[in-house]
Amino acid sequence: MNIAIVGGGTRCKRLIELIESHEFQEIKPKVVAVADVNENAPGFIKAKTKGLFVTQDYNDFFKKKNIDLIIELTGNMDIYNDILSKKKKNVRAIANPTAQLFWEISRLFALQKITEQKFQETQTRYKAIINELIQEDVLVIGYNYRIVDINDSLLAKLGLKREKVIGRFCYEITHHQDSPCSGEHHPCPLIQTLNTEKPSQTTHIHLDKDNKEIYYSISTYPLRENDDVVGAIEISRDITNDINSQKAMMRQEKLASIGRLSAGVAHEINNPLTTILTTAMLIQEEIDPEDPNFKEMETITKEALRCRKIVTSLLDFARQLEPSKKENKINEIIEESVILTKKQAAFKDITLALELKDNIPTVFVDKGQIQQALINLIMNAIEATHEDGEIKVASDYNTENKNIEICISDTGEGISTEDMDRVFDPFFTTKEKGTGLGLAITHGIIEQHNGTIEVESKLGKGTTFKILLPANASTGGNNAGQ
Ligand SMILES: Nc1ncnc2c1ncn2[C@@H]1O[C@H](COP(=O)(O)OP(=O)(O)OP(=O)(O)O)[C@@H](O)[C@H]1O
Ligand SMILES: [Mg+2]
Repeated sequence: MNIAIVGGGTRCKRLIELIESHEFQEIKPKVVAVADVNENAPGFIKAKTKGLFVTQDYNDFFKKKNIDLIIELTGNMDIYNDILSKKKKNVRAIANPTAQLFWEISRLFALQKITEQKFQETQTRYKAIINELIQEDVLVIGYNYRIVDINDSLLAKLGLKREKVIGRFCYEITHHQDSPCSGEHHPCPLIQTLNTEKPSQTTHIHLDKDNKEIYYSISTYPLRENDDVVGAIEISRDITNDINSQKAMMRQEKLASIGRLSAGVAHEINNPLTTILTTAMLIQEEIDPEDPNFKEMETITKEALRCRKIVTSLLDFARQLEPSKKENKINEIIEESVILTKKQAAFKDITLALELKDNIPTVFVDKGQIQQALINLIMNAIEATHEDGEIKVASDYNTENKNIEICISDTGEGISTEDMDRVFDPFFTTKEKGTGLGLAITHGIIEQHNGTIEVESKLGKGTTFKILLPANASTGGNNAGQ
């Protein structure tokens, strides 16, 4: 389709450019001629430089054979009417307002294209922000608790695919519940944000894919659409490690202060206690065993001995002696500790099994202290296990983190969730005659060896204490077979 334009102004120039740049589907329009009285009009110059037919009199168009359409762009109706009266029948003509209408429509399409492109760009940028830049877990929730979006970090933690999460209720996914989980003891920052239309903050305990507790610091911000709050964006940070190290620090501080106090008290009590004990024993020697006072003196001796056992434990705990570390083979220390406790286990018909791995590097430890720690753990296991139960002591070497692992597991009564946080506390005991110092001492010993001790337990099923000790740096995994 060959086009001739009357009026060579800016719009003529843009029309030439537009037709040139656009790929048309069915028609093939081409501007072939421009008429304007002003030879300096931009459209006129454009046409001239492109080698098109240019004229100052549009009447020249009627002499040309190859023109299919005349577009009038001057806006003068007299000219348009003149064109209509002079043009051949097969030539079409478009008046300025019609041209203007098409012009506007084409701009609208162009604008829509830009908007779509902008939207795409915004989406890409948004995805990059929530998935790559924000290291925290992000959840976008609608007013009805339905998940609108979720980032990769949170998906990985939940072990779920995005398609399985979008559209589901947030409490289903994060709390494994079938109704909203907000309550007095578990305030939901989302509800707070929706009610107050303001950001909110709280700490929640979520469950991961293995049902392990993860502490989350959660912040929510309102999502607005035309001034209405339509949902909230929830950004949560896993603070489990922070909480655990805070707990460990508090425990350490508590141990240190109790240690100082105990050291003083135990020391003061130890001397008079020894006097009571020896005096009672001396008097007892003088008394006839048939004398009713003999039994009383025996009670004094027995109770004084019990006190001395407690005082000795207290001193052990308080002393926190610098370990005198030497190169040792961990399996040997374990075997010796087991020999020392085997009798107590046999007494209750408990099997005490060993599962020791070969090729474990040596450790740089105070043998006596590690033995004391292991005996404490094995004794606890024996005390918690019913007759015919089983206790397993295993050793292993983790080549990745270069740690030696010792696990003491039993099939005993287990530890309740409430007690779990307190078992390492000094004086925490559930036993009638316990001092509650065994695990506190053990914890102290392991820490002095730059190791860690963890506990996992299921009530009624059993308990496992796991000790990690750094392997001796100078030995590899192969040269120190045990
Ligand atoms: N293997 C275990 N199974 C179940 N509960 C355990 C186990 N080990 C420890 N506990 C719990 O932890 C508490 C504290 O243990 P800890 O060794 O510190 O003191 P204790 O055993 O009570 O006293 P002591 O060590 O002086 O005999 C125990 O009273 C018990 O409730
Ligand atoms: Mg104990």
